[in-house]
Amino acid sequence: MTELNNLALQILSDGKGILAADESTGTMTKRLESVGVKSSSQNRLTFRETLFTADSMSSCIGGVILYDETINQSANNKKIPEIISQQGSLPGIKVDSGAKILAGSKDEKITEGLDGLRERLRIYNDLGARFTKWRGVFTISKAYPSRLAVQSNAHALARYAALVQEANMVPIVEPEVLMDGAHSAKDCYEKTSEVIKECFDELILNRVDLTGIILKPNMVLPGSDAKEKILGEEVAKLTVDCLKKSVPKEVPGIAFLSGGQSEIEATENLNLINKYNTTNFIMTYSYGRALQQSALKYWSKNPKDVNGTQKIFNHRAKMNTLAAQGKWSKEIEKE
Ligand code: 13P
Repeated sequence: MTELNNLALQILSDGKGILAADESTGTMTKRLESVGVKSSSQNRLTFRETLFTADSMSSCIGGVILYDETINQSANNKKIPEIISQQGSLPGIKVDSGAKILAGSKDEKITEGLDGLRERLRIYNDLGARFTKWRGVFTISKAYPSRLAVQSNAHALARYAALVQEANMVPIVEPEVLMDGAHSAKDCYEKTSEVIKECFDELILNRVDLTGIILKPNMVLPGSDAKEKILGEEVAKLTVDCLKKSVPKEVPGIAFLSGGQSEIEATENLNLINKYNTTNFIMTYSYGRALQQSALKYWSKNPKDVNGTQKIFNHRAKMNTLAAQGKWSKEIEKE
């Protein structure tokens, strides 16, 4: 077993999942303002520190994805990566610099950040990062995602992953097919399959060690404006089937993004995915909103009640860790 494979398994094993706390300052500002909190550097740190010092960090969260601002911050004279490591979790870092309009396509996006990445990776590794994230985004419409968007983003993801492994860290490869739109689950299945297959073609071409990556895909879902909704069982079957056919068997684990699902939906669907999982892939969570939403809402109203906020976060983390083992139920959710 390679060192990178070991690291990936350390993050994902035994129902553990990933806390995606890597919202850029722009995104975090939107999240904080939506609950009436001013987006100051201190407020962003205080909320995140509240999560990172919660009990579930040791029992449920195998890794935390940080943003550049946070990995450089300290709380109570301790550096944030140190706080996370002391909980037995691994610090990770988002290293892309965001999705920009793709020249040659009218309104699709390409994720940037390859320039100078080798040097930045060294700095992040010195700061304690053991894994990284890069997110490519794809929209579904009649014409999209275009071949240009699929190929360009897959190429960038693979070049990123090769550089990250060279720096002895585990790359999270995140091709996100967005839920926005009125497309059907079948459309999502087809486009997600195409995108993931292209990513692996490029990863292999770039000689990435597939045993030392984590794939972070979307679940197969109908668009958020679709007329026809489908049952969780169908989401799970389509998702497992899509991944079974498009992900090489060397990959140790898959950690889903929540992508705009409600907290309960994201937990329930992950649980069903694990019930239907006929592959050898670990299937767990790498959630942002679906782990933080309720905790953030409570914290915004009760900023001094650290225990209260942590209790809510601990519950969500515990529910998702049960779901990652197919052991969640509506009854347990209410306990
Ligand atoms: P969500 O779970 O809120 O979709 O965030 C996960 C993530 O890291 C998106 O890049």
